[in-house]
Amino acid sequence: GRVVVLYGGRSAEREVSLMSGQGVYEALRGAGVDAHLFDTGTQPLTELIQAKFDRAFIALHGRYGEDGTVQGLLELIRLPYTGSGAMASGLAMDKIMTKKVWQQYGLPTPGYAVLTEDTDLDAVVEALGLPLIIKPPHEGSTLGVTKVEQGAQLREAYRLAARYDEFVLAEKFIAGRELTVPVLGKGKTARALPVIEIVAPQGNYDYEHKYVSNDTQYICPASLAPELTAQIMDLAVRSYTSLGCEGWGRADFMLDAQGRPWLLEMNTSPGMTSHSLVPMGAKAAGMSYAELCLAILESASC
Ligand code: DAL
Ligand code: MG
Repeated sequence: GRVVVLYGGRSAEREVSLMSGQGVYEALRGAGVDAHLFDTGTQPLTELIQAKFDRAFIALHGRYGEDGTVQGLLELIRLPYTGSGAMASGLAMDKIMTKKVWQQYGLPTPGYAVLTEDTDLDAVVEALGLPLIIKPPHEGSTLGVTKVEQGAQLREAYRLAARYDEFVLAEKFIAGRELTVPVLGKGKTARALPVIEIVAPQGNYDYEHKYVSNDTQYICPASLAPELTAQIMDLAVRSYTSLGCEGWGRADFMLDAQGRPWLLEMNTSPGMTSHSLVPMGAKAAGMSYAELCLAILESASC
């Protein structure tokens, strides 16, 4: 049948999504799928509703794409789509709600506070210590994120994040190794792909180092003791199923100096660019980029 690859959109991660969607589209076409690109940021949605598509591959990132809104629309029009449903997408898009769910399930996630205009920032520093990571809870690709080493920097970091979101997340900084784990499937069949370690210059895996520069190194499978690898892969699956995710996703971790893994966030529509991580994990598991796209497409439901 006809497959529409939804990409672009109107979030701050639009540029990333254009690359993801293009990659997915070319791979599906190359595999003989009757794929079509649709930019939800520039094309009228009435066209999407009226055109006769059989399935949608969501390659959108961030708001109005990864957050449950598009998923809700596709459910309304009964167009099966890839990835998590509306509720899991909405939960995972909100890093604060995600942490609440994980805490409820006893999954390890760094201590945090929610900042608003009225928050006593000194009290937050007192309670959580420094450094802190300040994040807008609904963004991806490290947009609006600051690492605060001194209390005096907190106000400005808050203001930067508050440009994106009304509530801002202040999270305890975990020094250590940065890891990420792709997950495929659903419920009891959810399975983790190999663990990826990200080695960015000065530990600075920001937007620039994610998509622009080539000086970030990726090690896949990450060099970790077998028991630790198994523990991290199990945590990745539990972090995913606890949020009700399905289809595919990617759990981001920090591994602290004592070798303890901490969950940072779940991405329900992860990057599929040439620099992206899920394709890297898939490759280490013997799955090509095209095979990965087909596997994700196969799981489309509504
Ligand atoms: N938010 C970006 C697209 C990612 O997680 O890969
Ligand atoms: Mg993210």
